Amino acid sequence: MKADISNRKDIEILIHSFYDKVKPNPVIGFIFTEVVKMDWEHHIPVIVDFWEGILLDNPVYQRNAMEVHYHLNNIIPLHKEHFDTWLSLFFSTVDELFEGKIANLAKTRAKSIAGLMLFKMNGINQINLRDDT
Ligand code: HEM
Repeated sequence: MKADISNRKDIEILIHSFYDKVKPNPVIGFIFTEVVKMDWEHHIPVIVDFWEGILLDNPVYQRNAMEVHYHLNNIIPLHKEHFDTWLSLFFSTVDELFEGKIANLAKTRAKSIAGLMLFKMNGINQINLRDDT
């Protein structure tokens, strides 16, 4: 039986493994490696902060993740297939490494945040479309 996610180190392992899958992925990898040339040393601790707030109830993340993706969506429109791929990689990474209540919470929250992002991004695309015409 696998252990549950229980501390920041666990989240670091999760996020590193997740990006190991994201980078070579044909649907979303290029967004991280070519569209935004990610500074991974800066980015990973920020993402770990984000998840530490959600999973361990420690509010160390003080930024606005939705804003970051609005900005990204202006550079490269984010569609359902991108979010589906992101989620599928996230779920499989969680399942490979952990199991339990917090691992399930990670998946539930990822799914609801991705759904919210997709909803908001699509709204913005429609507005842009109307402005263009
Ligand atoms: C289509 C799916 C997604 C793509 C392609 C994507 C891509 C990215 C990229 C390229 C960045 C870095 C942006 C920058 O530093 O300029 C980023 C940041 C981030 N992403 Fe995503 N993302 C996706 C979905 C999600 C989801 C579903 C979540 C949360 C459950 C999430 C959480 C975050 C967080 C917390 C950051 C850091 C924001 C900050 O700098 O404060 N992303 N994402």
